[in-house]
Order: sequence, then C-alpha cells, then structure tokens
Amino acid sequence: MSEKTAKLSLSSEEHEFNVREGTIGPRVVDISSLYKETGAFTYDPGFTSTAACESKITFIDGDKGTLLHRGYPIEQLADHGDFLEVCYLLLYGELPTRTQKEDFDYRVTRHTMVHEQMNRFFTGFRRDAHPMAVMCGTVGALSAFYHDSTDISDPHQRMVASMRMIAKMPTIAAMAYKYHIGQPFVYPQNDLDYASNFLRMCFAVPCEEYKVNPVLARAMDRIFILHADHEQNASTSTVRLAGSSGANPFACIAAGIACLWGPAHGGANEAALNMLSEIGTPDRIPEFVARAKDKDDPFRLMGFGHRVYKNYDPRAKIMQKTTHEVLGELGIKDDPMLEVALELEKMALNDDYFIEKKLYPNIDFYSGITLRALGFPTNMFTVLFSVARTVGWIAQWKEMIEDPHQRIGRPRQLYTGATERDYLPIDRRS
Ligand code: ACO
Repeated sequence: MSEKTAKLSLSSEEHEFNVREGTIGPRVVDISSLYKETGAFTYDPGFTSTAACESKITFIDGDKGTLLHRGYPIEQLADHGDFLEVCYLLLYGELPTRTQKEDFDYRVTRHTMVHEQMNRFFTGFRRDAHPMAVMCGTVGALSAFYHDSTDISDPHQRMVASMRMIAKMPTIAAMAYKYHIGQPFVYPQNDLDYASNFLRMCFAVPCEEYKVNPVLARAMDRIFILHADHEQNASTSTVRLAGSSGANPFACIAAGIACLWGPAHGGANEAALNMLSEIGTPDRIPEFVARAKDKDDPFRLMGFGHRVYKNYDPRAKIMQKTTHEVLGELGIKDDPMLEVALELEKMALNDDYFIEKKLYPNIDFYSGITLRALGFPTNMFTVLFSVARTVGWIAQWKEMIEDPHQRIGRPRQLYTGATERDYLPIDRRS
C-alpha cells in the first residue's frame, strides 16, 4: 500500500502534502499549497520532475519504451488505424464507430480549403524563407480569418476550431512548400484520404496528371500517426501555457509550431539527416561517435537520446520498418544514408557511453530518410511534424480548457540578480 502523504521538513517545521496516484505511471506529490504554507518555491529547471497538469490523453513509459494513446499502444494504432481515426481517439477519448468515423472524416474534409485571401499572405514572404517561418506566420494569421471560432468559452466554436486546424494544416504546409519552390498552389481534393490529399497538394502540378501511390500514402499516414501526440513535450507545454491565458486556438498552435522548430525538438529530423549526409560513409562513423562523446565538443548524435525514453523509442522501430517499405516501393536498393544510419545505430548501441547514458535512437533518426525518399526537402521535415502534431496540441489544449481547475500558467523563479539599488544619472555611471 503506497503512502498517501509526503512529509517535508523545512526550517525545522514539518509539512504534509497529498500524494496522488495516476492510473499508471509515477505518483505525484501535490505541492500546489507549498508556497502558501512555507513561503518557498520548488526549483526544477527543464521540468524534469514536475507534472504540470493532469491528463487522460497519452501515457509514456520511458524505461519500457511504451507509448499509449488513450490506452492503445502506438504499434497497434500504426498497424491497424488511420490518422483521422487516431485524431478522433485523441480528441474524444474512444475509437470511433464506423458511423462516427465517417461523420468525423466528412467534417474534417469540409474544412480543407483556406480562405482565398491567405494566398496573398503567402506572397508577402521571401521565397527562400524557411517553411517553418512561413508556418509560424500563416497559422498565427488564421485567427484573423476565422473569427467565428475564436471564442474559447463556446464548446461549438472550440470544436469548429479543432476541425479547422486538423483540416487546414496540410493545405497550409503544402502551400508553404509550393511557394518555396515557386510552383502554383494545388487546391485540396476532398475525395482523397488525408495523407493522399497532402501528397497530391505537395507534388502535383496543374500541367500533369498526378496519381497517388497507395504504398507511399500509407507510409505518410503512418508518419502522421507516429507524430500525433507525445504528452507534455516542449511544444505541447507551450500550447498549454499560451492557451492558459485564454489566447485563441490558432494563436496557441502557432506558438507550438515556433517551439517545435528548435533542433532539440522537432528540428531534430532535419538535423539528423544533415548529420547522416555529413558523415557520408560508414568509415567516418567512429570520428563522429568520438565527437559526440567528447565533453569539449558541443556535437551530439542527432536523432539519439530522449528526455523520457531511456529505452528504444517505440516510434523509431515502426519508423525503421516504414523506411524499408518506402525505399522498397521506390526501388531504392542501396541508400547510402540508410547504410550509414544502420551502421551508426549498431555502433552507438554497443558503445559504453551510449549504453550508460541510455541513449537510443528516437523517432527522428529514421524519419528523415523516409521523408527524403518520399520527395520532401529537409527543410520541410519539421513542417510535416507540425501537421501531425496539431491534433495532439488541439486535444491537449481542449482538455486544458475543459478542466475546471484550469488557471493561467505562471511559473515562479529563484531570483539571483541585483538587490534594490538607486538609479544613477548617466554621467555618474562608471
Ligand atoms: N549525443 C551525445 N550525447 C548525448 C546525446 C546525444 N544525442 N543526448 C544526450 N547526451 C548526453 C548529454 O551530453 C548528457 O551527458 P552528461 O550527463 O555527461 O552531461 C546526457 O546524455 C544527458 O543529456 P541531457 O541533455 O541532459 O538530456 P535531456 O533529457 O535534457 O535532452 C535531448 C534530451 C534534447 C533529446 C538530447 O538527448 C538531445 O539533444 N538529442 C539530440 C537531439 C534530438 O534527437 N532531439 C529529438 C528529440 S525527440 C523529438 O523531439 C521528437
């Protein structure tokens, strides 16, 4: 029987805090009354030991390498489900019946077009802008176009905003790509499934017939499933924090996109592919592994390590399988980057440094090779991640708004700056 309270002794006074149990995973010590009771804050940079919210959406066991969405293992969802089914599950908590699925697909599909005025918004950007910069701007701008779904206190408007975000993100991502390469925008085609429609919007041109390859569409769909949600990661926490102030959902998702862009988060797939290309041939791997282990060298093996997984990232295994399927379908027999990746993985998994620090490949290690084979340039990789993660952000944002205990997120600090002092006129400063 586990204890229900935790005792804290501070300045010779004893304080007691409730311990709460989740359905699975570590229990939490509820220290929400700590400051009121003791006048002290907790200090946890990077939130390594802090549960910032209660959630029913996603569970990760980092030691075992398990990922569950609403209780369902990611392997089962990736093998048997499709992306919109997973979206439904994340948003509503249960897998849809056939009728619910048809209705949901229909509702999402009706929102795939973006306001025609958005086209002009794109042309304000430089063509050589990074597509993630364009995503931050254009997604944030959605709140200027869809005023009828920005009232967060109205459940109907929240639902419409959710459908709009899931439906429009592929369209906006494809537009960012087309604008970047100087091709005309391709409008969505609603008789196609989500992934096929996205591939078509990216790779079709008006002067030619485009046929979606079903094997590649299935791979794209699986990549979307694998990235759909990952509990309270940096970008999701950003969305929750932005949303806690009452900001509208489009603004919150734009904040999530900005956070995702960083190379320690969603930008890692782009960085991993660049690293594999820089390594070039397997004989250069030892040099890069040595650099990753060198304390004086900031270089890290991109696509390795994870804050939560201290075992193989379950998504990386599925992604590796998907990589082989895509390369097989495209008849790519000897991909030099895949050869480097497989060899690098083998070497790192047998190296004491990586074993001791429990550094395993994460999802980004193989996703870059797959996305490149599908035809995407590296600067689109994080954009694709943002398309998939939108449902996770929206589901977590919705859960937060509907939580009766929700308050504005406002962390505190350990102040180590100057104490109070008097202003000096400029000519008296040394
Ligand atoms: N290569 C070499 N050493 C590493 C790596 C790596 N990829 N990752 C962590 N380490 C080492 C660190 O140097 C540190 O060593 P030390 O204890 O001797 O100082 C130790 O392992 C712990 O690393 P931290 O940075 O403290 O771990 P943290 O949980 O803060 O970071 C992170 C996790 C950011 C993912 C990190 O492993 C990393 O930078 N990986 C490369 C980037 C990457 O692949 N990111 C994708 C994450 S998954 C996603 O967002 C979808």
